[in-house]
Order: sequence, then C-alpha cells, then structure tokens
Amino acid sequence: SNRMMLGPLVGSIDQGTSSTRFLVFNAKTSELLSHHQVEIAQKFPKEGWVEQDPKEILSSVHECVEKTCEKLQQLNIDITNIKAIGVSNQRETTVVWDKTTGEPLYNAIVWLDLRTQATVDRLLKKIPGKNKSFFKFRTGLPISTYFSAVKLRWLLDNVEEIKQAVDDGRAMFGTIDSWLIWSLTGGKNGGVHCTDVTNASRTMLFNIHSLEWDPELCQFFDIPMEILPKVRSSSEIYGLMKSGALTGVPISGCLGDQSAALVGQMCFQDGQAKNTYGTGCFLLCNTGQKSVFSEHGLLTTIAYKLGRDKPVCYALEGSVAIAGAVVRWLRDNLGILKTSQEVEKLAAEVGTSYGCYFVPAFSGLYAPYWEPSARGIICGLTQFTNKNHIAFAALEAVCFQTRELLDAINKDCGVPLNQLQVDGGMTNNKVLMQLQSDILCIPVVKPSMPETTALGAAMAAGAAEGVGIWSLNPGDLTAVTCERFEPQINPEESEIRFARWKKAVMKSMDWATS
Ligand code: G3P
Repeated sequence: SNRMMLGPLVGSIDQGTSSTRFLVFNAKTSELLSHHQVEIAQKFPKEGWVEQDPKEILSSVHECVEKTCEKLQQLNIDITNIKAIGVSNQRETTVVWDKTTGEPLYNAIVWLDLRTQATVDRLLKKIPGKNKSFFKFRTGLPISTYFSAVKLRWLLDNVEEIKQAVDDGRAMFGTIDSWLIWSLTGGKNGGVHCTDVTNASRTMLFNIHSLEWDPELCQFFDIPMEILPKVRSSSEIYGLMKSGALTGVPISGCLGDQSAALVGQMCFQDGQAKNTYGTGCFLLCNTGQKSVFSEHGLLTTIAYKLGRDKPVCYALEGSVAIAGAVVRWLRDNLGILKTSQEVEKLAAEVGTSYGCYFVPAFSGLYAPYWEPSARGIICGLTQFTNKNHIAFAALEAVCFQTRELLDAINKDCGVPLNQLQVDGGMTNNKVLMQLQSDILCIPVVKPSMPETTALGAAMAAGAAEGVGIWSLNPGDLTAVTCERFEPQINPEESEIRFARWKKAVMKSMDWATS
C-alpha cells in the first residue's frame, strides 16, 4: 500500500475540566498529526456545587479515540503505528465507583466544587490553632475544599450507596486518571486500579517525600486505605487498552495536566516555569529533586517521576481557579458572547476596561490568598461602562491573577523569571497575550503548537520502559518554535493598574462568611 511511512506514533488523552481531547503525535518529530475534541457538561446542582458524569467523561474519551483514528485513516496513516498512549487529566476531581459493576456511585465532584467548606471547617477544629498549613510539609498543600481528601470525606459522609459499597469491599476511589485507566484496561473484568505520583500529590492523602499513601493522613480524614489506587511512576506500562480501535496498545504515561504541561514545555531544568491557561490558570516552576516550601501561598507539588527508577522532581505551583471559566461565564451566564473566541474582538474594540475591575472569585480565591469566603465582584462601573469594558476587565483579571502568581514565585525562588512560557487554549487570544506581557513587564513566549499538556503525556508514554520510542535526552528533544509578546506599556502604568486590582481583590474578601 502507499501508506505513509512515519515511524512510531503516540496517542494522548487530555481529559480537562471543560473538554476531552485525543491527540496523536509522531514520536520522532513531536509533530501533531490529528486530534478530536469533545466538550464536557458541567452540572451545578446547587450554588457552589460542580459535578460531572464519570460515564460521560469515559464515553467522551472513547469518542475522541475513535474519531481521531478515523481522521488518521482518512490521511492514509496506519493506526497500528500507535505504540503507546498517555493520559493527562484535570486533577483532584474525585470519583468513587463499584468495582463489581463498573458503575460510578455518584457524580464526579469537580476540583472547583465548594460543598466541602463545612467539612473543612469541621476538620480544622481538630487541628491546633486551626492551622490550615498543618500538613503542608508532608503534602505540600493547605487544608482546602480544592483537594480530593475532603471531597472523598464528603462522599463517605453523605452518600449511602458509597458507605454500603465500602462496607462490602466493592468501592474504589480515584481521580480522573484512575477512573479512566481502570475503565480502559478492562474495568470490572480486570481493570488496573492505579494512579501516578503527580495525581496522588493532589489528594492530600499522599506523603510527597516517602511517595506513599500516608496512614496518619488517612486516619485524620478517616479514609479506608483499601479503596485507594496503587501509586506508580508517571512513565511505565500500567496496562493495555481492552476495547476500541486501539485495543492492545499499552497505556504507559500518566500525569496530572499541569505536570504534563511542564513536561510538554520541556521545563526539565531547575528554575524553568510555565503558565497554562485552561478553566483555571496554573503556574508551575520546576525545583528539581528538592521540595521547596513557599512563604507566599504557593503549593509544593510533584512535577514528575519519569520511570520507576528515575528520580522524583518537584514544583512550586501557583493555582488560580478561574481563568477560561470567566469567559465561559460571560458566554453562558451573562450572554454577552456567542462563542468564547468572541471575547478577543469585544476587548480589542475598546482596548481598555475604562477603570472597571473584575475579580472572578467564583470559587473563593486560591493562590496566593487561599480565601474561601471571597466572592466575585465587578467594580468601578459608570454609565459609560459597557460589555466591551467588562470583557476587557475579564481578560485583564486573568493577567492580574497570573501577575500575583509570578510575584510569589519570584519571591520564593529568589531569582526573578525573565520571561514566561505559556500554553493552553486561551493563549490563542492575542489581546490576552499582549495584555499579559504588559502586566508582567516581561516577554511572554508561546509555543506554536499550544497543546503542550497532551504532548507531555505523550512524551511520558513514549519514553516508558518496554516502549522506548521517545527519547527524553536533552540533545534529542526537538526545539519548539515560539511566538513572543514584548511589553508595550511602561512599568509605571502597569504598577498603577496592578495596585487598583489589589484594591479590588480586598473588596471581594469575606463576602461569604461560612
Ligand atoms: O487542578 C485543576 C487542574 O488540573 C485543571 O486544569 O486545564 O482543566 O483548568 P484545567
């Protein structure tokens, strides 16, 4: 046949908060050959609650795999060249399912969900001085609604079917990676129940130094350890695909999406950082083999462990809950946009917010404040303000929040970053990218292939022992072509706007007192 000779290919599942994607890369050149994307429904059953259907997430993965394979065949590319599959996923989102039926026992509780505030308050009462940072050294995390342990606690306290399944020994817990890998490798017929160190580091049950589930933490949160998945490295064969067009292909890479983006941006050196604009916004700085603890509201998280015998690397992370989600809110809740892409045009038409500031603290504020009772505000309105100014203020909010993360990273690391590597869906918005550079007063650098999250998981899968088709040696990594945005306003003006933003943030605080 005249099928193209491409050499080995690697598939990558990217299961994000807003959508699922499957992408196929050439292992030798990193070139993206084809992909398919499906949007995921979010359910808001009560104020502050955010859920997703684990079955819908799984079927979206199947759909993306099948559609991508069809597209490859249309391009005359032989899908038997796909030698490995990587998984990257929205982190912290919590699923409990029945291992005998393969059915979820409740909707997935999404990382953004705030229902566990009362659980958090109750747990804090057990801690000397109600110190949120009590487990910070062991887990890298403050006690917050964000992480899986409290979500799992809520499920065990409130869902009768889950209590029953735990008592009967039928329950399995997992973040989205575990749910997908278990289901894709056979589910109730022998599926592999595992997670990787990066995802485990977001549960608050994991000791980031010993790299094991921590019995004391499990006791504190009262979590039965037998329902937890086995923790593996981010790059090894976990199991084989058991259905669909890619049956028999090993799943051999797994990373939480933010760690995957760090790998995909080739940030392998101490001090290299990237910022990903998805539903939220996450700035990770590689700190190498040492775990660094922040004095400025950042998390300590596992960056990756690319093989069973490879060292673990850590990162400092600045997490912002609402980035792309504010644009979706303008579209779905205010109805001032027909599509998310339109926000760029609306903002460009005015080029300023005219003194309007928008703090999208819909889920409280994460880094550097960790203030669950903050709520969103739009302030500085006059009769002159219109939807364009509000759209501009929403984009500016994403940039200001990133500026807060960058300031914290710079203080913790001592050496200021002299440019920011960025990726994620929103980086296609040139107005946003220019604004970001103006507000940071440093260049912003965007790879021409912005799907770095998927690329990172593909790299981990292709490099795994027993697969060995993707070399991660620094000399073999293909240089990425980039687009640069340089600051165009003077730093004084930028400082004045940032100071106004900080004032607006103060006004958003303490609105919802728990
Ligand atoms: O911690 C949550 C994060 O992993 C979600 O990423 O890209 O879906 O906003 P994203």
